[in-house]
Amino acid sequence: MSKIYHLPSGPGPIGIFDSGYGGLTIYREIHRLMPEYDYLYVGDNARAPYGTRSFDVVYEFTRQAVNYLFQSGCHLVILACNTASAKALRSIQQLDLPTLDARRRVLGIIRPTVECIGDITKSRHVGVLATEGTIKSMSYPLEIRKLFPDIKVTGEACPMWASLVEANEHHNPGADYFIERDIYRLLDKDPLIDTIILGCTHYPLLLEKIRKYVPAGVEVLTQGTAVAHSLRNYLDRHTEMDALCTKGENSAFCTTEADDRFREQASRFLNHPIRANKITLI
Ligand code: DGL
Repeated sequence: MSKIYHLPSGPGPIGIFDSGYGGLTIYREIHRLMPEYDYLYVGDNARAPYGTRSFDVVYEFTRQAVNYLFQSGCHLVILACNTASAKALRSIQQLDLPTLDARRRVLGIIRPTVECIGDITKSRHVGVLATEGTIKSMSYPLEIRKLFPDIKVTGEACPMWASLVEANEHHNPGADYFIERDIYRLLDKDPLIDTIILGCTHYPLLLEKIRKYVPAGVEVLTQGTAVAHSLRNYLDRHTEMDALCTKGENSAFCTTEADDRFREQASRFLNHPIRANKITLI
């Protein structure tokens, strides 16, 4: 990220970023827990999905979004995208933030998700369904091993799932084919799995269909609640950051695709009307 001058220094909203609609599943839980804050959501719908893109491309797109959010006044940005958390977070934290503003922070969502897994699995066999990028990065097995070395982690990439959501095809019967196939592929690899992490923020939008194909007794874990509580905890521990997050109960939504389409789909998912602005990320 080239050095940015004149970042707004006053307090601003909490930034939330995803490749598209998926981050809304994280925003919804954060907002439910902390409605008093202001939020600025960016969905890069025009360039979604990120899941099959290379490291360099995900890194570049993600830092463009972080740059946009910083310039819009955010001091704290949540990458509500596992693919971006897996592929871009560390580089942004280590390479970009030091040259920007030492007081700004970018947080990912993989660590808070895996923290609770130790209390949930009994068999100590956990499955992860995620994008190809997240699975190939090995971020979930690596993070889980750090905290719970006794847990065996098996991943399966679901290359079509995020695209089904982005194309608004996720409620249609054709979606069942891919959902059933990928769940069975995961469970075939390790039949002892008793907990499946939905390691892509788009997947909770498919939850109804996912539950149809996951056998009884296997827990399906979504990320929103864990991420929201982890953020609450972060703000409680970092009062200097909390002071830089405005509390006016406003949420604004930006998309790189058509704003009317985003408005329609996001309003349906969030159950209340929202306004959306079209932006360009460079
Ligand atoms: N929602 C994102 C994730 O959590 C990315 C989906 C995609 O764009 O492929 O990984």
